[in-house]
Amino acid sequence: MATKKAIKRIAISTGGGDAPGLNAVIRAVALSGLKRGWEVYGIRDGFHGVLLPEQYEEGGILKLTRERVRGITHLGGTMLGTSNRNNPMRYPIELPDGSIEEVDRTDEIVRALRLHHIDALISVGGDGSLAISDVLSKKGLRVIHVPKTIDNDLDKTDATFGFDTAVGFATESIDRLHSTAASHGRVMVVEVMGRYAGWIALHAGVAGSADAILIPEIPYDIRKVARKIKDRDQMGRHYTIVVVAEGAKPTGGSAMVVEHKKGKDERLGGIGEQVAKEIRTTTEKETRVVVLGHLLRGGSPTSLDRLRALRFGAAAVRALDKGYDGVMVALAYPTVKYVPITDAMGQMKHVPVDSDTIMTARDMGITFAEAGDTEKK
Ligand code: F6P
Repeated sequence: MATKKAIKRIAISTGGGDAPGLNAVIRAVALSGLKRGWEVYGIRDGFHGVLLPEQYEEGGILKLTRERVRGITHLGGTMLGTSNRNNPMRYPIELPDGSIEEVDRTDEIVRALRLHHIDALISVGGDGSLAISDVLSKKGLRVIHVPKTIDNDLDKTDATFGFDTAVGFATESIDRLHSTAASHGRVMVVEVMGRYAGWIALHAGVAGSADAILIPEIPYDIRKVARKIKDRDQMGRHYTIVVVAEGAKPTGGSAMVVEHKKGKDERLGGIGEQVAKEIRTTTEKETRVVVLGHLLRGGSPTSLDRLRALRFGAAAVRALDKGYDGVMVALAYPTVKYVPITDAMGQMKHVPVDSDTIMTARDMGITFAEAGDTEKK
């Protein structure tokens, strides 16, 4: 895990879907590196900057100076750009006959970085980028990975930055829906991102006092949602808020996919509409759907996410300074630690169905609409 070669020049890349806090990581990496007398470079759009340098007027790799990273901690997005298309491990190229072949271009990344005399790479991304970090590290590049995703589904870290901002926005949205739902006596279905994990739906649903929360970890029975709506009606509560994770699935069914692609790259969506349709049929209540989608990825990071991101960025540079290689920075309350990239890979962190947050929700009277006669205690 530890190597000794002195560092002179490092590069940072941000890959996968953007998350609030990426700019804070970039700033922390740049300032911590510059403080040590290193040169710091930022690769544009994931790894496109090194694979397709000719496409960038300023070059595919930017020198990060103090001036370049000034005033960016609070900004959403990433100043370097990112991409969750054209994974360098399965890069699509068009053959003369018009068909598409996927090729591995990771050797080219290693070569290009060596050509730029980059001693180490700090790669910021989710599980897709983590797999790329692993390959690059095995090919001899010195790599430190920084975990990122609004979905909070990365294993071996207590949390990722971006999640708190996404939950905050979703909660505020649910708060706003209460009054309009109550005024019209409607059911409001709120679909949130999160892929195959229900973290955002659970946290925002509990914080925003939803009545039902549907998450991938607990397959739902629509009749249970309908029961909840009817029970509330009988109690004189003529409106209901249902929060649905994009990866939620009915008992015996599967998640709704809008774009089929290889492996975990498939794009989820549509479950909100589906649930609303079923609610209309089973309850005859007026039902509306709000899909929060990419709004959850936008905007200024919360102070918690800024701090997490700054800590992760600085910890990544300290890791290099200490001679670490092939590790991911991870949050281990109350501090940060380093875990081998290989240990963090391949597993998704799901909501534990016996977690205290789930128990809290149940005690608050929130239903997960699971099949069976009674809600589990
Ligand atoms: O992983 C982050 C995430 O926002 C998921 O919650 C969502 O399913 C996915 O990215 C959407 O990605 P995009 O629309 O950018 O392809």
